[in-house]
Amino acid sequence: MSVPSIVILTGAGISAESGVATFRDADGLWEGHRIEDVATPEGYARDPALVHEFYNLRRAALRTVSPNAAHEALARLESQWSGDFLLVTQNVDDLHERAGSRNLIHMHGELRKARCEACEKVHPWGDNMSSQSRCSRCGAAGHLRPHICWFGEIPFEMDAIQDALFRCDVFAAIGTSGVVYPAAGFAQLAAQSGARELIEINRESTAISPVFTQHRIGPATEKVTEWVEEMLKAIE
Ligand code: OAD
Repeated sequence: MSVPSIVILTGAGISAESGVATFRDADGLWEGHRIEDVATPEGYARDPALVHEFYNLRRAALRTVSPNAAHEALARLESQWSGDFLLVTQNVDDLHERAGSRNLIHMHGELRKARCEACEKVHPWGDNMSSQSRCSRCGAAGHLRPHICWFGEIPFEMDAIQDALFRCDVFAAIGTSGVVYPAAGFAQLAAQSGARELIEINRESTAISPVFTQHRIGPATEKVTEWVEEMLKAIE
């Protein structure tokens, strides 16, 4: 029997136990801000300083958090899995790669990258960013922005994600509320394409729970670790 191909989608819930705030768990605010002010192109055009400051704080906060057992379990699954494996995250933190994940797509971008709107170059970026920051490729100042997919923008690498969803045997969604599309439609797409196992791991049921064939309710650190151990045992 060939080893099944896996696509895993993660959301803010997988990083919650590392101390990274989720989006919808508190008052509809995100770290005290309205999403429209800090996560839309319109908000950025209105007040770039506020948006830079918001992402500067979040980028700096990454230095104070570490991957948890759930990130580590997914990295272990990838390293021991001989079938196709793709991890798609909606998270902009870097906890998956710090845990050791390699075949990883950040569909909503990355806090530790900057993009030049003048020449489109994407730079690694660990420091603060401001309207004075200069692109080291084209030399333009005032055009660097966080490499983040804001509302109204198209997520990154959608073709590669869709290809993997069409081919996968197993799809798992971990710690995502299932309200932001297109990610919220991935389980349905995998199901329609013939995936035979659809697993949802979350602290609670979500808007998309009915699509899944298996529900594992509880904290990601516990439930992802259990699921990964079972997956690895099945191919021993
Ligand atoms: P949300 O904040 O909407 O949802 C987090 C989910 O994680 C919820 O379903 C919680 O029940 C679950 N959760 C919280 N703690 C958990 C834990 N310890 N273990 C397991 N589950 C837990 O975050 P996302 O679904 O990731 O987009 O949000 C999707 C997108 O909306 C984000 O990527 C962002 C946001 O607007 C952009 O910025 C473009």
